[in-house]
Amino acid sequence: MVLNDPTTSSRPWWRDAVTYQVYVRSFADSNGDGVGDLQGITARLPYLQRLGVDALWITPFYPSPQHDHGYDVADYRDVDPRFGSLDDADRLVARAHELGLRVIVDLVPNHSSNEHEWFQAALAAGPGSPERARYLFRDGRGPDGSEPPNNWHSVFGGPAWTRVEDGQWYLHLFDSSQPDFDWRNPEVGDMFESVLRFWLDRGVDGFRIDVAHGLVKEESLRDQEIGADHMPGSGPAAPADPHAEHHHVHTAEGEHAQLLTAQSMVERRMRDEPMWDQPGVHEVYRRWRRVLEEYDGDKMLVAEAWTQTEESMARFVRPDEMHQAFNFSWLLAPWSAESFAEVIRSTIAAVEPVGASPTWVLSNHDVVRHVTRYGGGAQGLARARAATLTMLALPGSAYIYQGEELGLEEVDVPPESRQDPAWLRTGEVGRDGCRVPLPWGGTEPPFGFSLCQGQPWLPQPLEWAAVTAQVQAQDPDSTLDFYRRALAARRALVPHEGEHAGEIDLLPDAGEHVLAFRRDHLTVLLNCGDTPVPLPDGEIVIASGPVKGELPPDTAVWLEL
Ligand code: NOJ
Repeated sequence: MVLNDPTTSSRPWWRDAVTYQVYVRSFADSNGDGVGDLQGITARLPYLQRLGVDALWITPFYPSPQHDHGYDVADYRDVDPRFGSLDDADRLVARAHELGLRVIVDLVPNHSSNEHEWFQAALAAGPGSPERARYLFRDGRGPDGSEPPNNWHSVFGGPAWTRVEDGQWYLHLFDSSQPDFDWRNPEVGDMFESVLRFWLDRGVDGFRIDVAHGLVKEESLRDQEIGADHMPGSGPAAPADPHAEHHHVHTAEGEHAQLLTAQSMVERRMRDEPMWDQPGVHEVYRRWRRVLEEYDGDKMLVAEAWTQTEESMARFVRPDEMHQAFNFSWLLAPWSAESFAEVIRSTIAAVEPVGASPTWVLSNHDVVRHVTRYGGGAQGLARARAATLTMLALPGSAYIYQGEELGLEEVDVPPESRQDPAWLRTGEVGRDGCRVPLPWGGTEPPFGFSLCQGQPWLPQPLEWAAVTAQVQAQDPDSTLDFYRRALAARRALVPHEGEHAGEIDLLPDAGEHVLAFRRDHLTVLLNCGDTPVPLPDGEIVIASGPVKGELPPDTAVWLEL
């Protein structure tokens, strides 16, 4: 039961797909060690099929010391024993395909783990060796080389350089356990081509490319200019990536509002970023595209690229590069009809000229869950459902993050349980709050996530007894039921052959606080204001909350007029 059966449609499956992000540690634990694993995912695939998604993206499950929970890869061609084996990976892919689900795996090419054999060899071989030339080792500044080679800061806080015993320094844009590769060295490109082929040969359908905007740095590795115009008040330690902006966004509502503003995007646009989004990075993706095209079955690449503008995002999806890029502008937009409309307009304007289709995402494992970003509680949930329903009507594809279908909020993880390297490096709250293992059923932790005695790797709140998948599956008003209905309704919106991203009309006259657009026979309204607005006559296909005669605040509706 494959959505876009290649025998009946020439439209590649990923163009309109809804992809469910599985954070492997926290999805389902089959062996009772308190950490999720591949067999756990396989066992839950029928849940994803029933939910109505088209694909799943699985975060890194390769051998790794887990300093950044798998985004520190020690071996790109194997499975960490915590998560299973290569056979488990093969069985997962085969079972997913039987159920009509595509599988996207996560590729981490910007950096490896410091436990990768190449980095260990680089340490052993010493300055000037070919082994060191696979990473970015440099001598330090100052008379005795005791100062870092430049002023860059790690996204996770602190300097982006660590000194090794012989006095040289290596660059790590993330944790010190994540040394950056030197992508100007052809050996690195050759290695990653073989890694792509390794997983393509095992049948995966695509790759999510981690830090896709970071692989190539400005060759000089010059200082980042930090002028008065750049991020006022944040000084030289200004984070160079919006992940970091979210580190201190937690439960205080005011803080979210303040940080997730258009202003913070504008400030970022003004920053000098010699470490991000350099032109040379695109050569890498052209090569990868050619590799994917040797395989049948519409294999795809999706970029995680925190670019400064939608236009620079669109450069990653030119016809000979990646197929998709996450559109983080949608996730960063504050709760306002005008901001949402502007993101839709500018996204489509950016991707259309390159012939790409847009993507939409509201939550992932790096940001505060959208229920909480929108204020939490009943209002946060109403807004989250409304934003999701709006997203699912937009042309292109959508990404949803595990647990959002249960309406989960960010968890206030106690400091002693936090594990995010950003927390460990800076003391800022970090990303653990959106990574708490899922509540599947039952009345107490681990809520069916695991057979473990006691707590899973991050503790679950006791209140989750009321929001387990099991409880929600019985309740027609639940968020889970709403997601199932919304995804089913979306399937009926099958785009025609040849429909392109621009085939949506924003309706400017719907009211100051109402986002409205038409797509084919469907009219979509989202009320971001605080008073109800009249509903045009028409048949309600689906609404994100109760609707009678008028469209209440914080609610979205799909109408057939
Ligand atoms: C982006 C990933 O989504 C994040 O979780 C990770 O910490 C960084 N890249 C570094 O790999």
